[in-house]
Amino acid sequence: MHHLQEMKSAGEKWAMLTAYDYSTARLFEEAGIPVLLVGDSAANVVYGYDTTVPITADELIPLVRGVVRGAPHALVVTDLPFGSYESGPQQALATATRFMKEGQAHAVKLEGGERVAEQIALITSAGIPVMAHIGFTPQSVNTLGGFRVQGRGDAAEQLIADAIAVQEAGAFSVVMEMVPAELAGQVTRKLTIPTVGIGAGHDCDAQVLVWQDMAGYTSGKTARFVKRFGAVGDELRTAAAAYAAEVRQGVFPAPEHSF
Ligand code: KIV
Ligand code: NA
Repeated sequence: MHHLQEMKSAGEKWAMLTAYDYSTARLFEEAGIPVLLVGDSAANVVYGYDTTVPITADELIPLVRGVVRGAPHALVVTDLPFGSYESGPQQALATATRFMKEGQAHAVKLEGGERVAEQIALITSAGIPVMAHIGFTPQSVNTLGGFRVQGRGDAAEQLIADAIAVQEAGAFSVVMEMVPAELAGQVTRKLTIPTVGIGAGHDCDAQVLVWQDMAGYTSGKTARFVKRFGAVGDELRTAAAAYAAEVRQGVFPAPEHSF
């Protein structure tokens, strides 16, 4: 946490990626990613749900355990699922404690600004670092009316108020999702804690992407804010097809694979 704070002061940007298992967490640590997020986006990319709303702590916690083992030097942050913190600070602390004890996470993340400031304050006072998440918050997709940019026009004031509220409540960092680049830059300069952007322009202190989007592993259309840095999906499909073909043809296993 201190380290991320120092990087902000020094103007050094860093990258965060999601991870949901041991093997990819290892690769991302080897690649020099300092912060991994076990996102509730696991709802989409691990469990195949349409939104992040249905995923539960019981579904997410085992994934956290794998990531922590795979990346022993990274800071592992985990999302608190929808419905596991909104009813009040006590519920939020109980859930965060489960993720720390059962998942061995290093920090938790939850969605919302002013409306969850009390939750953030109690969790941090218990010694659990909190990353906040404002702007477009996918768990509220049903009230936000779909995937849309937040903080445009008059809504900018609320976004700034949310950013200040989470910092004052004790969050060590804040994700800003789908926020106009200029507003995100303004918030980044106003806050002392690092901002992590996703669809929030290049003035944020850090960036985050879902790894499957980043690596070209997701099928279909991706959001405007995604850049594909690889074609892992094509690679994997090709490898699986080649394996299946060699098995059908009796080419694999060859003598050197046999005992
Ligand atoms: O769940 C997730 O993957 C996230 C980020 C992409 C910020 O919350
Ligand atoms: Na999330």
